[in-house]
Amino acid sequence: MRGWIKPKPMSHPVQALSEILSDDMAAMNATILNRMESQVPLVKDLAAYLIASGGKRIRPLLSLATTALYGGDMGRAQNLAACVEFIHTATLLHDDVVDESDERRGQKSANTVFGNQASVLVGDFLFSRSFQIMVEDGSLDVLRILSNASAIIAEGEVMQLTIQGQMDTSLDQYLQVVEAKTAALFSAACEIGPVIAGRTADGDSDGNKNGGNAMASYGMNLGIAFQIADDVLDYTAAHDKLGKTLGDDFREGKLTAPVIFALKNASPEEQKFWQRTLSDNTQNDGDLDQALEILKSHDAFTKAIDLAKTYGEKAHSDLDKAPDHAVKDHLAGLIDFSITRSH
Ligand code: IPE
Ligand code: IPE
Ligand code: MG
Ligand code: MG
Repeated sequence: MRGWIKPKPMSHPVQALSEILSDDMAAMNATILNRMESQVPLVKDLAAYLIASGGKRIRPLLSLATTALYGGDMGRAQNLAACVEFIHTATLLHDDVVDESDERRGQKSANTVFGNQASVLVGDFLFSRSFQIMVEDGSLDVLRILSNASAIIAEGEVMQLTIQGQMDTSLDQYLQVVEAKTAALFSAACEIGPVIAGRTADGDSDGNKNGGNAMASYGMNLGIAFQIADDVLDYTAAHDKLGKTLGDDFREGKLTAPVIFALKNASPEEQKFWQRTLSDNTQNDGDLDQALEILKSHDAFTKAIDLAKTYGEKAHSDLDKAPDHAVKDHLAGLIDFSITRSH
């Protein structure tokens, strides 16, 4: 095992990468601002509301870092990194409508401020804008990778909807959703780096799903670990740090990793509790606290984080195949950050 719980004494990996790639990040941010312009004021206002509120910018950082790692054209990477962040932003707009979430990035969610309709439509705009940027770039390989990811994300969100409240949700089904709704974009964001640098995928012909090359696989494993940690944070985080309402997954009846682990050896009363709250959608005051107690008593959060670590290990192995470069250690640090993060 690599020293998981030992965060590197060096600076935060997201900050460290942002510093190394500061010119590229600044250009990427400028592209974002420039390309969310619209003649229709509400489009720009709503997009700006969410985009200006920050976010960790992990996915564009991944595209920039993997391009740098393989010596690709950073000008192209800047535009495509903006495109990746647009896809991410579009999915957040849609996701908050679907999940009825009222907070995002430490402020009221866009759907709360502008309404569901505007959020869905501006999400569509950002998706479409991202495709315009890809076409301008001109690489069919990039277009294939990012359009595959966009379709898979949507499938993942729909898959999640169809298994919501199902008490027999398996860990495999859960992981399938996680892979699709979150890890596919992490994977695509990383895969385009070597592609921009002119490397062809060394994997199978069906694209990035199983990690056609080392970076696609790194991103996939990182993304799975990231989402499992997110599902733990949805119960355990400090609200101010997370910037999202705690307990959203519980209220929505999502059977995420912690619940699946707690259900494995749940007592009959506990089974009834989960059935009532997640499946029958009857929740009372105090239920979230009780859920937390039950989850803790089954070590469900530790088990979920251990699962995230197994994907983190895989991501580290993928990274071993990459060339040496100043960003490589930080890409490794990003794996550990994704699992131990508090926001
Ligand atoms: C939120 O992603 C959606 C998930 C996949 C859990 P991030 O945690 O990267 O969101 P921002 O962009 O930093 O706000
Ligand atoms: C995120 O899943 C997946 C996408 C945004 C596509 P979540 O629903 O767990 O993300 P948060 O917690 O709302 O950020
Ligand atoms: Mg959500
Ligand atoms: Mg979440």
